[in-house]
Amino acid sequence: MTEQMTGRLVLHDVSVRYGDVVAVDAATASAAPGEITAVTGHSGAGKTSLLWAIGGMLDDGRSDGSISLGDKTIGDEATSRSAGAVLIPQGSALAEVLTARDNIAIPLVAAGMSGGEASALADRTLASVGLAEHGGHLAEELSGGQRQRVAVARGLALSSLRLESGSAVLLADEPTSELDHDTRELVVGLLQDIARRGGIVLLATHDPEVAEVAAATWHLEDGRLTATARP
Ligand SMILES: Nc1ncnc2c1ncn2[C@@H]1O[C@H](COP(=O)(O)OP(=O)(O)OP(=O)(O)O)[C@@H](O)[C@H]1O
Ligand SMILES: [Mg+2]
Repeated sequence: MTEQMTGRLVLHDVSVRYGDVVAVDAATASAAPGEITAVTGHSGAGKTSLLWAIGGMLDDGRSDGSISLGDKTIGDEATSRSAGAVLIPQGSALAEVLTARDNIAIPLVAAGMSGGEASALADRTLASVGLAEHGGHLAEELSGGQRQRVAVARGLALSSLRLESGSAVLLADEPTSELDHDTRELVVGLLQDIARRGGIVLLATHDPEVAEVAAATWHLEDGRLTATARP
């Protein structure tokens, strides 16, 4: 591992509520740096809600319990961001009228990179997901699977940057749902690279083949989490 180890991500009694709906119900679990943890469960089981709680992306008051990374408490926007939380959102969430390159480079600049470095890293990560020729295309001109790969590339680039400054917690929310078999393997390999460099990778997926690469699984059923390590 090239980057420093950062300690485990630990959740204790984490709940997420939307009014009367309990999306995550007192989840207690931990995930190690250097590993992929699969987050599984049927549609509506609470996967996205759990990832957003860890990323500090929920509206105030929606989550409670405690979340920590090593000796730091996280779980709100500022603390999760400074601990290196990066979301690959379900459904890609690209800015339509920006190019693929700018969809990646602008968040990198916002995270402190210079414009030139950010464009170069954007181009490298686009190439790594098989989109070397698409950097100048507007997001709205891309196919669903290409858009998903841009969102993955953005998450990978930001995670790389976060790793350089200490730690990354990559929250990958169904990042391969629109990809063919070979492209899926490519993306899973890139997520493994982030883990190998010392990142914590949480990978929400409905795909058993994708979940198989994980060292551990957090399975959600109606918001209740059961954690298992790979035998
Ligand atoms: N903004 C919201 N307002 C109200 N209820 C919500 C909101 N977001 C999610 N929910 C509810 O919380 C529960 C968990 O949703 P969540 O999106 O976390 O599930 P998921 O496991 O990610 O599902 P999927 O596999 O379909 O993405 C569901 O019952 C959902 O209807
Ligand atoms: Mg979801």
